[in-house]
Amino acid sequence: MAYVQILRRRWRIFMGVTLGVVALSAVFTLLATPQYTSSTQFFVSTADSANSSQLAQGSTFTQQRVKSYSLLLKAPKLLEPVIAKAGVTDTPGALAGKVSATTPPDTVLIDVTVTDPSPTKARDIAQAIAEVFPTTVADLERISPKADSPVKVTLLREPTVAGSPVSPRPARNLALGLVLGLLLGFGAAVLKQLLDTKLRTKEDVEALTEAVVLGGIPFDGDAEKHPLIIQADPHAGRAESFRALRTNLQFVDATNHPRVIVVTSSIAGEGKSTTTANLALAMAESGASVCVVEGDLRRPRLLTYLGLEGSVGLTDVLIGRYELDDVLQPFGAHSLTVLGAGATPPNPSELLGSTSMRNVLDELRHRFDYVLIDGAPVLPVTDSTVLTRLADGAIIVAGSGIVSKDQFDHALETFETVNGTVLGIVLNRVPRQARGGYYDYRYEYRPEAASKPSDGRRRRRGRGEEDTTPLRKDLVGS
Ligand SMILES: Nc1ncnc2c1ncn2[C@@H]1O[C@H](COP(=O)(O)OP(=O)(O)O)[C@@H](O)[C@H]1O
Ligand SMILES: [Mg+2]
Repeated sequence: MAYVQILRRRWRIFMGVTLGVVALSAVFTLLATPQYTSSTQFFVSTADSANSSQLAQGSTFTQQRVKSYSLLLKAPKLLEPVIAKAGVTDTPGALAGKVSATTPPDTVLIDVTVTDPSPTKARDIAQAIAEVFPTTVADLERISPKADSPVKVTLLREPTVAGSPVSPRPARNLALGLVLGLLLGFGAAVLKQLLDTKLRTKEDVEALTEAVVLGGIPFDGDAEKHPLIIQADPHAGRAESFRALRTNLQFVDATNHPRVIVVTSSIAGEGKSTTTANLALAMAESGASVCVVEGDLRRPRLLTYLGLEGSVGLTDVLIGRYELDDVLQPFGAHSLTVLGAGATPPNPSELLGSTSMRNVLDELRHRFDYVLIDGAPVLPVTDSTVLTRLADGAIIVAGSGIVSKDQFDHALETFETVNGTVLGIVLNRVPRQARGGYYDYRYEYRPEAASKPSDGRRRRRGRGEEDTTPLRKDLVGS
């Protein structure tokens, strides 16, 4: 997957980690003790170099020696007198950590830098080194206590008091923090993406199945309170997406057009019932006669969403207690009819696969243009796969961010093993920022006359008069 897409989807963790690391580097910079340096420089030569050949030999000799002299700068032999002279309380070991000595290659120079939180203390120590180091070297190289030393160390630069600290360096630290933060943020985003097992996008669906994606329903925080599209703005993204779904469904198998359709999903809570109800409303809106059937006998919610009562219904017909006509309920003025669940039976799968269920569906197929059945989820129970065998096919609702890719894949497999027809997939709860294809709902396209009602509810189209009832009158009737 393109990295840009990962960043777009995982921008929260990306920004979070980046800002976090920058903030850490800022805190680190603020809390760090300022350090000052003071440096000095020595020149090493052999004492008597009368002619040029001696000079050449002497210079080779000293070049080999300066390395050892620079190591001497960290040895207690030198540092003990330095401590005494500078009047500091550091131990030789601690002081060695504050002193650094470098020898530029092919030279006989030794650069010494002392670092300390106090600029004057750094200078005092460097000053002491400037005084002690030349004599210490000279003493070391003397053959006998009386003899002249063959090596001479000359002080080239007097140590000074630094005006500004060498560390911390805010600009450099923040820049480093930013670069590190961007890298870590990107890494975290990629990792989160790799560890994300949820099904989220149309691409995720297409990677798992050949079945066509019939539509995408945007996530709508209002869905809980107003499950039906006719309770809200009819031109809002969710309402329009159900109309698009209705249209796309018409192109499924045009010669052998499916009319008895089970709506199911892998697990509970993906949006089967809301999708069934709204797709049925969208179909009825276009003039088709539609019957919605509560086929989830275990957790019936469809009639609740439709605002109806379903204590008698399908199961009563299946066990022969009632006639179909006694339990069919009209929804609104025309074209939408509802069949509730009835009492919860002990054996839903058996009942749904029975001959009497086949008869009920045949009867409904005869009477209506479309029969939509709100099914139970596929993974926990066999109800919907059983039902699909009696129907023309199933629409599988995939709840974006709810179902895992694995679960969705298993549900598809279940259909494959029983030879159930999958008409297509509906991706529900698509995040609004998801771009591209037909679930880009950033641009809602509404007729010029109908402006968006301020209270989130609909205005009766064309008449401009306030309609405070939650349901569409043209569907519901008065
Ligand atoms: N597009 C959506 N955006 C936001 N919430 C949704 C959407 N579709 C369904 N929901 C919510 O998800 C929950 C489960 O929906 P439901 O249709 O009852 O699922 P199922 O029938 O698959 O168990 C409900 O609270 C519903 O309001
Ligand atoms: Mg349901």
